[in-house]
Amino acid sequence: EKGGYEHFMLKEIFEQPKSIHDTLRGRLLVDEGIIKMAGIWDHLDRISQAQKITIIACGTSWHAGLIGEYLIEEFARIPVEVEYASEFRYRNPIINENDVVIAISQSGETADTMAAIKMAKEKGAFIYGICNVVDSSIARVTDAGSYTHAGPEIGVASTKAFTAQLTILSLIAIKLGKHKGHLSNQEFMRLITELDALPKKVEEVLATTNDITKEIAKNFVDAQNFLYLGRGYNFPAALEGALKLKEISYIHAEGYPAAEMKHGPIALIDENMPIVIIAPKQGHYDKIVSNVQEIKARKGKVIALVNKGDTQVSAMADHIIEFPETSECFSPIIASVPLQLLAYYIAVFRGANVDQPRNLAKSVTVE
Ligand code: F6R
Repeated sequence: EKGGYEHFMLKEIFEQPKSIHDTLRGRLLVDEGIIKMAGIWDHLDRISQAQKITIIACGTSWHAGLIGEYLIEEFARIPVEVEYASEFRYRNPIINENDVVIAISQSGETADTMAAIKMAKEKGAFIYGICNVVDSSIARVTDAGSYTHAGPEIGVASTKAFTAQLTILSLIAIKLGKHKGHLSNQEFMRLITELDALPKKVEEVLATTNDITKEIAKNFVDAQNFLYLGRGYNFPAALEGALKLKEISYIHAEGYPAAEMKHGPIALIDENMPIVIIAPKQGHYDKIVSNVQEIKARKGKVIALVNKGDTQVSAMADHIIEFPETSECFSPIIASVPLQLLAYYIAVFRGANVDQPRNLAKSVTVE
């Protein structure tokens, strides 16, 4: 049932070209130049006229929500807040009938997310669900929604569900952006053509980074800490990379926006600190170059995720992982794959049970 892979997690990482394709299937019609999503279409006015969108989720799904905020604000120009469901539910948030709440949950059973949905519903908000498990409790309680169609995720660490969530959020943001007139036809076509190319690029990144991440992982089996840095869309990708590492390898890891480094974490940097930095060509590249210079001046060990043909960051980095170029808004979908592999191999070399990390359950049905 692991399809020849040693663990479900590795199988699920490798399934991503297909799972992203399945998420797009029937929705992204490039030849016709449309995005078809029944859940959005049936409630188009309600959703597109929302005064505010609040995204609620936990863990990895919350990281997807942060990227969703960037996507929806950039393309649909609707203000978005992203909240941990566990905080939202206990703090009397300002939510009213004009609000839309997007709940993201792979399992569709997370207790805190469910409780937050119920509270938002009582306040009159329209609830849109993004779930992976069909007919799950959250999918049933929401007013409308889209399934991610990533297929069953068995490994406790979420991988393919995360990239599928990002894919759905991209579709929603671009569809709303087009409907609201914030995207020209040309820009819309460019974006959906890039979305359509993602499964192929993810296939490519799997083929080109699997061996390299495995080799790099060998150097960090005894690391005690890791920093993950990114900017813009790749700041949440850094948070997610750090979460993957800590949950399966038990190495302490923190994600940070690269520019925040100088406001504290830079004090941690010495020759024993590995720093994963996401540095795509499209996305504040020059700023990232300066961050890498600051790290190298303090002898930190840099593992850089860069696009093919990169020179500046690569010249300074200790280890380089190359991934195919795409627009900044889609780069977390591709960059997350080598980050998943890196966490996976470090954990495997440490002898950890990657599919069932200690203390964790696949769905958190208690608060
Ligand atoms: C991390 C992980 C968890 C979940 C979180 C929310 O790899 O799997 O952080 O993302 O428990 O779960 P769902 O998405 O099922 O609501």
